[in-house]
Amino acid sequence: MGFFLIEGPVTLSGSVRVSGAKNASLPIIAASIISNKRVVLQNVPDLLDVRTMKEILSSINMDVHFKNGIMEINPTNNPNTDVPYHLVRKMRASFNVLGPLAVKFGRAKVALPGGCSIGVRPVNFHIEGLKKMGFEIRIEHGFVEARLKKPKSVVITLPKPSVGATEHLMTTAAALEGTEVVIENAAMEPEVVDLQDFLRKLGVKVEGAGTSKICIQGGVKDSEVKHDIIPDRIEAGTFAIAIAATMGEGTIEGLIPDHLNSLWEALESAGAEIEKGEDKVKISMKDRPMPLNINVTPYPGFPTDLQPQIMAMLTIAKGTSSIKEHVFQSRFLHVDELKRMGANIEITDATAIIEGVESLSGAPVTGTDLRATAALVIAAFMAKGRSEIHHVEHIFRGYENIVEKFANLGGKIEYVEVKEYVE
Ligand code: UD1
Repeated sequence: MGFFLIEGPVTLSGSVRVSGAKNASLPIIAASIISNKRVVLQNVPDLLDVRTMKEILSSINMDVHFKNGIMEINPTNNPNTDVPYHLVRKMRASFNVLGPLAVKFGRAKVALPGGCSIGVRPVNFHIEGLKKMGFEIRIEHGFVEARLKKPKSVVITLPKPSVGATEHLMTTAAALEGTEVVIENAAMEPEVVDLQDFLRKLGVKVEGAGTSKICIQGGVKDSEVKHDIIPDRIEAGTFAIAIAATMGEGTIEGLIPDHLNSLWEALESAGAEIEKGEDKVKISMKDRPMPLNINVTPYPGFPTDLQPQIMAMLTIAKGTSSIKEHVFQSRFLHVDELKRMGANIEITDATAIIEGVESLSGAPVTGTDLRATAALVIAAFMAKGRSEIHHVEHIFRGYENIVEKFANLGGKIEYVEVKEYVE
């Protein structure tokens, strides 16, 4: 893996087209396990996380092909239902194959995800939900084994609207023939709605996604399925923030504007002009941003996956901003790196206070997770001078053709390959 060399400051302008959503692709690829026929997914982004999910399906002996944004997935009669640690460690969303595998083949064993740089991310809601639906769960030697005993119709109330738990339990319930499962306090994210659309194409009776109550009547029909993945709202939001933060003017194309209403509101309050079309949004920013007070909450609130990027923008605001993180309370690893570029940020509990400075200065910095690394890229475009961003492998987990897309907007960015890392 190499590093990014970025020369700033630049004013990003022009247009950029967003790819398919990573966070919709992953649960839908996992849900393909419950299909009895071929599944064809379109608009799938070519990302490290998507390749990991493909590797998981291949490891359980499913026949998967992925080329030019199209993934074809065929069922298997000869499954291997043990998913090893080296795959789950790469990506937490891998855990979401446990329920679908266990319901389809009677039992499954998946490694327990470990620590994560953006904070504590347990899977207790997933496990409690599976138990309620009639699975026997054993946790041993770092693995979770699920066996289907007697499928039950139940109401599951999630303690928090977890996206992963909602999707995992929805998919598992979808395959539980003859049951009716209700998920209350469900996540309302657009990716959950996309999963519902996919499950409906499999013949499952499911309704309520996009609200906090989802009802699933289990039962999959024997039919081939074709599905288009929704556009990536987080990728779209990252480009929108980058354009605003560099005081540029540009158009994001191929997105669903209403998926990002909390962001448009924030950017307008910061002084940007936002023009929404049917599937595009034009952003124009003429001056340094005005300060903001942002509460990061589950959808439809301001997304945690755009928190580091908006913080990068606010480092040069004309005044003091605050960001309170309610989803992942310790998701602030980017703060120390932004400080190395001249930002003035203090963290108390789960709140960041950002004292705007006139400008940032380029520096060598290190990416710690996917969105934190995206924030550093934005900061490097804003900063005076040269920045080196190390550990950019994080960014390839979630952004397709990121170097080309930023270069097309006028970003001076180069990916420098290194053979060996010396730390
Ligand atoms: C998903 C997204 C991720 C995003 C996050 C929040 C995917 C592949 N990833 O992650 O990009 O940042 O939603 O929008 O879609 N929790 C528990 N117990 C559980 C599950 C969750 O306590 O069993 C807590 C978490 O620690 C966190 C909160 O619930 O505080 C929300 O997490 P969750 O929505 O589950 O995040 P993910 O699905 O992992």
